[in-house]
Amino acid sequence: MPLQKDFLWGGAVAANQAEGAYKKGGKGMALVDILPSGKERWDALFHPNKVLETTYHHYPSHEAIDFYHSYKEDIKLFAEMGFKVFRTSISWPRIFPNGDELEPNEAGLQFYDDLFAECQKYGIEPLVTLNHFDTPLYLVTEYGGWRNRKLVEFYERYAKVVFERYKDKVKYWLTFNEINMLLHIPFFGGGLIIDEDENADQVKFQAAHHQLVASSLATKAAREINGDKFMIGCMLAAGEIYPYSCHPEDLLKSVKENQKQYFFIDVQSRGAYPSYTTRMFRELNVELKMKEGDESLLKEYPVDFISFSYYSSRLTSADPEINAGEKSGNAFGSLDNPHLEASEWGWQIDPVGLRVTMNNLYDRYQKPLFIVENGLGAVDKLENGTVADDYRIDYMRDHLKQMIEAVDDGVELLGYTSWGCIDIVSAGSGEMKKRYGFIYVDRDNEGNGTGKRYKKKSFDWYKKVIETNGTDL
Ligand code: BG6
Repeated sequence: MPLQKDFLWGGAVAANQAEGAYKKGGKGMALVDILPSGKERWDALFHPNKVLETTYHHYPSHEAIDFYHSYKEDIKLFAEMGFKVFRTSISWPRIFPNGDELEPNEAGLQFYDDLFAECQKYGIEPLVTLNHFDTPLYLVTEYGGWRNRKLVEFYERYAKVVFERYKDKVKYWLTFNEINMLLHIPFFGGGLIIDEDENADQVKFQAAHHQLVASSLATKAAREINGDKFMIGCMLAAGEIYPYSCHPEDLLKSVKENQKQYFFIDVQSRGAYPSYTTRMFRELNVELKMKEGDESLLKEYPVDFISFSYYSSRLTSADPEINAGEKSGNAFGSLDNPHLEASEWGWQIDPVGLRVTMNNLYDRYQKPLFIVENGLGAVDKLENGTVADDYRIDYMRDHLKQMIEAVDDGVELLGYTSWGCIDIVSAGSGEMKKRYGFIYVDRDNEGNGTGKRYKKKSFDWYKKVIETNGTDL
C-alpha cells in the first residue's frame, strides 16, 4: 500500500546540536553547554557532579554548526530536497535564560519567529520539541533539575509562551525528546545529579512523574490556546527489546524490559499509570509523591500522536551470566544479536526491527505514529566537493522499505524525519565526525573548519524518495 498523499517527509535536528551561538541574543546556559566531547563526554554524562567543577578544552554545543546564523541557507537546501516537515527544538534557555523568570526573553522568541517564518516560506511544516536535552543549567544547579516539582511550573510557563507566540506558525509539537532517556542518562533527560547513597530509581521516577504532569499541563495549555489545531505528541526512544532465546524466562525478561520503556508512553497516551507499575515500584522501592489532581490531569490530557526515534532493536537474557555480556553501543545496553551488523559506533542495524516496533506501538496505542529520528551515524569522506555515502543510502532504503511494510500492515503513520538531515554535533559523543546528514558540514571534532555546506550523494537520493512519495527507493 502506498503512503498517504500528504505524508510528511523531512529531517530533524535539535537546537543544542545545531544552533551554536550559545550566548547570543540573551540565551542562558543549558545543561548541555557544560558537556565536553569524545570519551570525556560519556564519563561526564554519568558523573555530572564532576562536570560542574571541571573546565574542558572544547564544548561542542557552543558553536555547533552555527545554525543560528545559517538557518536560511540550510532551510533553502531542505526545501530543495522537497522537505514537507522540519523537526527542530526550541532552546528553553533562549526563551527563559535561567528558567525561572516570569517574563520571556524577546530576542529568543524573535529568533524562532524568523526561523519558523523561513520554513513557512517554503511550505515546510515545523515540528517542534519543547525540551531536547537542554534544560536551563540554572534549574539544575539551583533547583536540582526535574526532581524538583517547581520545574513543572517553569516548564508550563515556557510552553504557554511559545504556544501563544507561534500558534499561527507551528502545528506539531513534542513535549519532551526521548522522555524515557531519563532512566538511562538522567542528567541529559532530567538534569539529575544523583548521590551514590540515594535510591536512584526513586529520584528518576519522581522526576519522570514531574515530566509527565508537565507534559499534560502543556497539552492542556495547547487546547486552551489553539483548540484542536495543535497536534501534541510524546516522543519515545524506541526499539523493541528481543528475548535472547525462546526460553520462556528470556521472553518474560524482554516483556518486563519493554514495559519499562513503554511506561512513559503508556501514561502519556492512555492517561494513567499502567497496572504493572504497582509491582515495579514496589520492587524498586519507589514511592511516588503525587499531588491531588495529578491523576485526573493525566487522564484528561493525553497526547494526540506517538512519535519515536528508532536506531536499533535490543537483546536481553534472563540469565545474569549471559547478560553480563551486554554492551552499550548507545545509551541502552544490549547483547550482540548474531543476526545483525553494527554501525561504526556499535549500534546494531535492524530495519525489520523498525517494522516490529511500529506494529507494537500501534497495536498498543491505536494513535497515529510519527518517526521523528532514524539514520546512520558514520564517518564521511569529503572528496571533490561531495561524499559518496552509499552506505547511508543503503541503511535508509532498508529502513524505509520496512516502514512502508508497516504501513501496509495497517499502521497509521504521519511522517518520517531522518535524524541529523544536516551534519550536527552528536548528542552522545559530542563529535562532529559521527555524521548523519544529507548535507556535509566542514567542521571537525575540535570545532575547526570553514562551516561550508556540501551536498552528499544521499541528498539527491532523498530528494527522489520524497518526489516519488517513497515509491522509488
Ligand atoms: C537520539 C537523540 O538519542 O539520538 C538525538 O534524540 C541524538 O539528540 C540521536 O543525536 C543520535 O545519537 P548520537 O549520539 O549519535 O548523536
